[in-house]
Amino acid sequence: MTLTVSGLRVVRAGRTILHSTSLSMSPGDRMGLVGSSGSGKSTVGHALIDDLRGQGHSVSHVPQSPDEALDPLRSMAFHWREAERALGGVDVDRAALFSALGIDGGDMGKRPWGWSRGMQQRFVIAMALIGTPDLIVLDEPTSALDPVVAAASMDLLERHLQGRDTAMMLITHDLGLAARRVSQLMVMAEGRVVERGATEDILARPQSVAARALTAHKSWAMVPC
Ligand SMILES: Nc1ncnc2c1ncn2[C@@H]1O[C@H](COP(=O)(O)OP(=O)(O)O)[C@@H](O)[C@H]1O
Ligand SMILES: [Mg+2]
Repeated sequence: MTLTVSGLRVVRAGRTILHSTSLSMSPGDRMGLVGSSGSGKSTVGHALIDDLRGQGHSVSHVPQSPDEALDPLRSMAFHWREAERALGGVDVDRAALFSALGIDGGDMGKRPWGWSRGMQQRFVIAMALIGTPDLIVLDEPTSALDPVVAAASMDLLERHLQGRDTAMMLITHDLGLAARRVSQLMVMAEGRVVERGATEDILARPQSVAARALTAHKSWAMVPC
């Protein structure tokens, strides 16, 4: 089922932080949303999720900060049960998922602050992998992880999505991460999508000022994940 949103627009405190934005994704698509900090990426993520859920689609979300996903007063076990209930994850192998993400040592009886931030982030990624949603939106999912763990987590995610119809939107300021993980890119600047196309085309021939600025930092090619 194609996922389509049109005319997404967000105004906060009298300021338009997202200008009218439309996009469409097909099952299994791998889309990257890139841009500098403050360009409006997370705003698109939230607006997109709200709109698609409103249309009745199932969308899982790995927010930019684990704090957005985890209630400090609830145990990790509670979060897991709630996520299973919401996402219909009857056949999820939690032990295998935790082991693959390197968080099998985490105490489920503890509250989020009893886990390190990197472990919390991987726990939220694991929660998003329960069930088979129409779309998974990952907002800077590896920002609290070291490069090796980040690459392993992204590999796991890709393996999980293989053969499923779940589409993925990867939001990141890290062009190296996007270059390795997505086939299409949308580039944002100042609350607008200023360029979109195949990842390899944008990397080879960036047109907009924003895309040129992102690709000019060639160190992105060295990032391992
Ligand atoms: N709730 C809000 N109220 C006012 N301004 C906001 C709010 N949320 C985000 N913004 C502003 O909107 C712009 C885009 O933010 P954001 O989507 O978080 O950017 P990004 O994820 O690309 O770093 C920023 O200038 C930010 O300060
Ligand atoms: Mg953001």
